[in-house]
Amino acid sequence: MWQKNFPKIKLTSTPTPLEKLERLSKDLKGVEIYMKRDDLTGLAFGGNKARKLEFLLGEGQEKGCRTVITQGGAQSNHARMTAAAAAKLGWEAILVLAGSPPPQEQGNILINRLLGAKIVWTEGEKRSEVVKREIERLNKEEKKVYNIPTGGSTPLGSLGYLQAAEEVFKQEKDLGVNFDYIVAPAGSGGTHAGLLLGKYMYGLKAKIMGVAADDQDFSPVIDELFRGVSELVGVSYEREEGDLILTRDYVGPGYGEVDEPTLKAVKYLALQEGIIVGPVYTGKALAGVLDLALKGFFPQGSKVLFIHTGGNPEIFAYNREVGGQ
Ligand SMILES: Cc1ncc(COP(=O)(O)O)c(C=O)c1O
Repeated sequence: MWQKNFPKIKLTSTPTPLEKLERLSKDLKGVEIYMKRDDLTGLAFGGNKARKLEFLLGEGQEKGCRTVITQGGAQSNHARMTAAAAAKLGWEAILVLAGSPPPQEQGNILINRLLGAKIVWTEGEKRSEVVKREIERLNKEEKKVYNIPTGGSTPLGSLGYLQAAEEVFKQEKDLGVNFDYIVAPAGSGGTHAGLLLGKYMYGLKAKIMGVAADDQDFSPVIDELFRGVSELVGVSYEREEGDLILTRDYVGPGYGEVDEPTLKAVKYLALQEGIIVGPVYTGKALAGVLDLALKGFFPQGSKVLFIHTGGNPEIFAYNREVGGQ
């Protein structure tokens, strides 16, 4: 039981449900799609970051911190969930967000406000500089600050998805299925590093697949996090060729820019299954899965598990793009 070595705080409603998407699978003729509902983790609309925060804030609490600082894009899901976790624990949260205050607060920004987080806009400055300055300011106030890097993707944060892989292992047994692929959107890499280690530790058959939400080459980042999280747990695995498949084919015009296939995927899932995905991460990844299934990338009879990593508040910030009137 590797868990007992880490001071985790329970912040999530886990295990999250794992369900077959029956209507969607019928349309894909020969590929079965399942979904792990990590949008239902809890913490103000939920998402993958909640799992990382259990380990990260556990460490912070042990170190005596009661203030947390993190950073991200203006609509960062990670920042919103950090603010929610801080509220639940009675901590102070400082969010350093890229850009300037928007004319109207929407989506994750609005939720950050409801959660009582302090937002510091970078206003063109380097994010790391603003974070440094804020930490110095807080230290002067004698506050011990826990600093979480972008996306919570450190080896410790990646443990959240090692834990998720263990859940999948148990849920496979309960359902009597073995997945061929586990697909999730990829951003800062922690989710995939944890899943890959989980594949080896729990003997999952599935290949781990990442659909990128932005154009950077995240393969070296995942490799480094994979080594880091393995070391933390005290195990050593060689990554086999083909166990991790990464694609940047569905980024479209760029990070946070909604293209037609993404919009179609968001609407299609809503109509077929009554499930909402956001357009920045999960919508793009779903567009990728649907395209790959229809192209025959997944062999006939494949069972594909899609991890819904959350991000639903994004749709309110993309009102027009997702078809709002
Ligand atoms: C909704 C959502 N899905 C997926 C990701 C990517 O996860 P990771 O940063 O662990 O690669 C993020 C964060 O960047 C996210 O907000």
